[in-house]
Amino acid sequence: MSSSSSIGISTVKPCCRILIGYRGSSIFGSHARSLDNPNSSKSHSKSIHNRGSYCSSSRNSGRSSHCIVQRCIAHQPSSVVHGGRAFISSASASSNSIIRSRISAAGFYADSGILRRRGVLLVPKVASDYRNQSTSVDNNHVNEKGFEQIYIQGGFNNVKPLVIEEIEKSGNSVVLNGSAVDLDYFKELNEKTTPQEKDERVASEIEKEAWKLLRAATVTYCGSPVGTVAANDPGDKQPLNYDQVFIRDFVPSALAFLLNGDAEIVKNFLLHTLQLQSWEKTVDCYSPGQGLMPASFKVRSVPLEGTEGEFEEVLDPDFGESAIGRVAPVDSGLWWIIMLRAYGKITGDYTLQERVDVQTGIRLILNLCLSDGFDMFPTLLVTDGSCMIDRRMGIHGHPLEIQALFYSALRCGREMLTVHDGTKNLVAAINKRLSALSFHMREYYWVDMKKINEIYRYKTEEYSTDAVNKFNIYPEQIPSWLVDWIPEEGGYFMGNLQPAHMDFRFFTLGNLWSIISSLGTREQNEGILDLIDTKWDDLVAHMPLKISYPAMEGEEWRIITGSDPKNTPWSYHNGGSWPTLLWQFTLACIKMGRPELAQKAVSLAEQRLAADGWPEYYDTRGGRFIGKQSRNYQTWTIAGFLTSKMLLENPEKASLLFWDEDYELLETCVCALGGKASRKKCSRFAARSQDGA
Ligand code: GLC
Repeated sequence: MSSSSSIGISTVKPCCRILIGYRGSSIFGSHARSLDNPNSSKSHSKSIHNRGSYCSSSRNSGRSSHCIVQRCIAHQPSSVVHGGRAFISSASASSNSIIRSRISAAGFYADSGILRRRGVLLVPKVASDYRNQSTSVDNNHVNEKGFEQIYIQGGFNNVKPLVIEEIEKSGNSVVLNGSAVDLDYFKELNEKTTPQEKDERVASEIEKEAWKLLRAATVTYCGSPVGTVAANDPGDKQPLNYDQVFIRDFVPSALAFLLNGDAEIVKNFLLHTLQLQSWEKTVDCYSPGQGLMPASFKVRSVPLEGTEGEFEEVLDPDFGESAIGRVAPVDSGLWWIIMLRAYGKITGDYTLQERVDVQTGIRLILNLCLSDGFDMFPTLLVTDGSCMIDRRMGIHGHPLEIQALFYSALRCGREMLTVHDGTKNLVAAINKRLSALSFHMREYYWVDMKKINEIYRYKTEEYSTDAVNKFNIYPEQIPSWLVDWIPEEGGYFMGNLQPAHMDFRFFTLGNLWSIISSLGTREQNEGILDLIDTKWDDLVAHMPLKISYPAMEGEEWRIITGSDPKNTPWSYHNGGSWPTLLWQFTLACIKMGRPELAQKAVSLAEQRLAADGWPEYYDTRGGRFIGKQSRNYQTWTIAGFLTSKMLLENPEKASLLFWDEDYELLETCVCALGGKASRKKCSRFAARSQDGA
């Protein structure tokens, strides 16, 4: 697996020996990545690409229900090991210098010396091809009770142009639809022509190295950049799946590229992963829900059937069926939506999110999240290890990280969904959930001195709708470390809440996204940063930032992790320090007007990351040692550092990536239903008197 051919950007150089699949930009517009020929079909063999056949962009045009597989074909491949990974090369391809094209039953075929293009049409094989139906989409798999019957009005023509509702100019910046855009910054970017030149802003040597490494981590598919590998560690003898493109890991890469003016890779990533969403996926004969996004994918090169010496590239996703522990990638779809919004906000290109296929992708993800289950709470119920912490760590149930990303994705979804008869019920469901979710989190997940004191005096076994101790928490559950640790000022959202169970551990990512998305009230958001500041030595120390605090030790570690040797106390997910959390911390600090706090953390990281080889994580209480099993040249460490730097330099760009309090939601607060008593208790009412959070 490790030596198979994920294609780095450097492979494009051995002169496009990878032959490229047909991209129908000239026929169906620049987004179309397929042929649309209903008369052409070819059955798929039982191979990776059989399973991998995907229904792609015919849904863009809303024209046909045919699935397309793009194949990138190479002759007589030989592996070239480059930077620890194997690439494909071809001797014969480069000798052909004639450009020719032909249309055959198998599709369009073009040779151009170093590039050959070929598209193959397939009879749809995947179960979930309703994205490809012309205009109507039957949503009978999710939410039978149904808040939605998806109907794409007007198909492809229903693409809204970017509407500039409001534009104000002052000095060298404009405010566009409420977001500040720095014209000088864009001018500077535009004056420069190549991406490399763009990098040469005022980049320090370390930043320059980081850019070089980030670019070297780029993966191409059919000649186009589509993502970055998780780690590019030449010394790694067992890369497992670190040579894949992880959805969550790509987020900081995407932001670094976007902030640097390189939007293409992000757009490609979004569109290719969207195609993977409809992949036929099975884990031991069971098919997980439609709309699921993979945890990761890999570009593989496989022999092309019926040919001699020809190879094709295929995208091979992992929905958890190969992942260690078979964990479900619940966060992937949420990150995808967040990234899609960021793409629009930073580039100003809203046509991507308005595409019919992209709109359908958003709806599928949100439908999956909003579908009815046995749950009693508005929080998302998930299994252990379904997010960044993708191993058993006692975070099953309603972990904070998933809730904060869910809230953010719902806010993104509501912003991006085109409202029409077919989506208005979904939008209403999103609004309802946003309201209920933020109420639930603000009320029940918040921990501070006052709240602990309340829990300490809880009565238990209360049976009634107006119980004070709703979750029947036994005060004995308050851990001894917390009693001494909780500061007088500030607080945080606890890690998890379930019947008779509160996980009081501090999880950084969830708390940061509560700030970024305004899941918390302004007071709570400030409280989280206060706590990080006060507890700097515990949460940052030598390397920002602890993934969770404190570590589980002894019996607790044995029972909760199942004696996981990778998650020993103060290592990896169990209290390890992860530099990739830096960009999210930076974003949260900028939002709350405390960039100096972020700057302090960035400086700490800058002193060590490059010298240490850009590790994935650090170990020990203070984050002094490079992680026991940490990869080096971990891409999201590199990209997170670059993104943090750029956000600090361009706070107006950062402002495109976070949200203020949603006052409309406050108006329809669910707790208002509970009558006067509950109104009083509701933090939302307090928030109304505050100035945006
Ligand atoms: C580890 C991390 C996970 C990350 C992956 C690839 O499994 O826990 O969050 O996505 O590595 O870097």
